[in-house]
Amino acid sequence: MMMKTAMVLLGCLAAGAALAQKSATQSIEEYRAMLADGNPAELFEAKGEALWKQKRGPKNASLEACDLGKGPGVIKGAFVELPRYFPDTKRVQDLETRLVTCMETLQGLNGKEIAATPFGKGEQNNVTALATWIAGESKGMKFNLSQSHPQEQIAYEVGKRLFFQRGGPHDFSCASCHGADEKRIRLQDLPNLTKNPGAGNGFGAWPAYRVSNGQMWGMQLRLNDCYRQQRFPYPGFGSDATIALATYLGVNGKGGTSTAPAIKR
Ligand code: HEC
Repeated sequence: MMMKTAMVLLGCLAAGAALAQKSATQSIEEYRAMLADGNPAELFEAKGEALWKQKRGPKNASLEACDLGKGPGVIKGAFVELPRYFPDTKRVQDLETRLVTCMETLQGLNGKEIAATPFGKGEQNNVTALATWIAGESKGMKFNLSQSHPQEQIAYEVGKRLFFQRGGPHDFSCASCHGADEKRIRLQDLPNLTKNPGAGNGFGAWPAYRVSNGQMWGMQLRLNDCYRQQRFPYPGFGSDATIALATYLGVNGKGGTSTAPAIKR
């Protein structure tokens, strides 16, 4: 037994770094497949669905009349068309900022206060749970963001510029880590977010449950954390910059299949 283990180990060493890294990537893939059977995101989906129907806030109303872009109360298919332009707010909005708009207009909650609440706290947790459930209702559907409104086109162009904008102590841009195929950091495969399949897979997986910290993350927090990796100042929740980046990624991911809520490292 000891002998066999030693030989396997020796074999691994001899195979060299490239192979060792490949097998580590494969192990992570296998681990993911195992975990996907019991994704804790399901708990957040259940919470989100309950929150959608629950009468809350100063107006004691549910979110069931919320228009996510396909008409009041229409949930299926909404996620794969966001961010999009909304005539009532005159803004391009992603799922999370649109939910805050509905929490404000329908329930009378304070949108500014929610946006200023740190991730993982108070109403932000509710936004994440709602986004998780709503995203899950479009699982398996293909991304199809609109680019017909001028504001949507501007969001894409701004997002593209932000994606390639270098800066910070390491002079990184998003593209430094996500702009080419076959990039890797700490044994993680980095998706190429400028085109499919990377854009659809990378954008279409969030909200995702993160095993490494046991947290459910929406796209706003995902982008926030990547700005941290870039050693940039954090963008505000729902800022024009994050919406523009999400529009850029989502449009690049057109035709890709939504797997959210996924499970991640
Ligand atoms: C220093 C490298 C680095 C930079 C710069 C960076 N990221 Fe990331 N990004 C990562 C890593 C590493 C992961 C995977 C994180 C994990 O799973 O822990 C990731 C994950 C992501 C994901 C999810 C991909 C998936 O398959 O789930 C998206 C979307 C993303 N980044 C967008 C961005 C955007 C937009 C920017 C620019 C604002 C950016 N990143 C800048 C390293 C970087």
